Amino acid sequence: MTVLDVSGLSVSFDTDEGIVDVLDRVDFKIREGETHGIVGESGCGKSVTSLAIMGLLPKPSGRVTAGSIKFAGRDILKLSSTEMRSIRGDGISMIFQEPMAALNPVQRVGNQLLESLRTHRSDISTDKARAKCVEMLGHVGIPAPEQRLREYPHQLSGGMRQRVMIAMALVNVPDVLIADEPTTALDVTIQAQILELLKELQRDYGMAVIFITHDLAVIAEISDSVTVMYAGRVVERAPVLPLFDGPQHPYTKGLLGSIPSLAGEPKTDLTTIPGMVPTFFTMPSGCRFSNRCEHAQGRCSETVPSLETVQSSHGVACMRWRDLAKVAT
Ligand SMILES: Nc1ncnc2c1ncn2[C@@H]1O[C@H](COP(=O)(O)OP(=O)(O)O)[C@@H](O)[C@H]1O
Ligand SMILES: [Mg+2]
Repeated sequence: MTVLDVSGLSVSFDTDEGIVDVLDRVDFKIREGETHGIVGESGCGKSVTSLAIMGLLPKPSGRVTAGSIKFAGRDILKLSSTEMRSIRGDGISMIFQEPMAALNPVQRVGNQLLESLRTHRSDISTDKARAKCVEMLGHVGIPAPEQRLREYPHQLSGGMRQRVMIAMALVNVPDVLIADEPTTALDVTIQAQILELLKELQRDYGMAVIFITHDLAVIAEISDSVTVMYAGRVVERAPVLPLFDGPQHPYTKGLLGSIPSLAGEPKTDLTTIPGMVPTFFTMPSGCRFSNRCEHAQGRCSETVPSLETVQSSHGVACMRWRDLAKVAT
């Protein structure tokens, strides 16, 4: 069963230099209990996608200009802000990249957690709510949770803060959890622990997870299926194995080439994709990757490629994927 269906989502921002169309007809679907990865370089629109789903685009500069976001069959873009507030945290919740920015620095951790819970469960007693918060902190691997509840965010380490954020996002057991680069700000050991924790919680609670990262290696570890984004568009989508075994888009191939091999090669000499993501004012016409793509031909900068079916559930938006697939075999 599909829990979240994002279809044709376009988002624009007003900036001092003019209007920028940051997302262009983004589509993806998440099934119940599935972990879906969204991957792409910095600036490709991953966070904007998650903010649009949460109804938290900065106002009035950011707005959805087209598309729908169906949660449990209803288009949540059509909801009032009150209705949206009741879905946020309860139906769909989010873990942010930088926990310090999402936590209130002058409020004790316990009160923040209690507030997240009581927004949606006004009927439960304070004692019960407190017990539930302690239980949740224990569940996300925070030692001495009773004591932690009385502390302020700055008294916690980065890893502990991220665990508190996860506890806040999960305390109401959402149907969909959006994790926006939840480990990027953490050191490697803690990253691995948080990933392990998310996998465990996903198993325990059975929620659907949208896992956002710029790192394909992390996707391999945690996701069932993947959407690859480039400059505000979906360029490829597939279950994890076909994507890693047979990537079709030159951009996806480039991202895969940037993963350090497990054979222990030094990390310094990675194959990286030449060039940079263009700004939204200098975006090439047609395929947005065309100016960085070694396979681009004239038609690539003329027509916007649509997502074509490679195999069931595997789609690619590249004018040249058929030619390139022939060369490869
Ligand atoms: N509030 C904003 N105003 C104008 N442009 C924005 C705003 N937020 C994000 N953007 C632009 O949207 C693009 C996508 O940003 P973002 O979703 O944060 O990328 P990612 O999360 O993939 O790194 C970037 O070019 C960024 O500059
Ligand atoms: Mg981001």
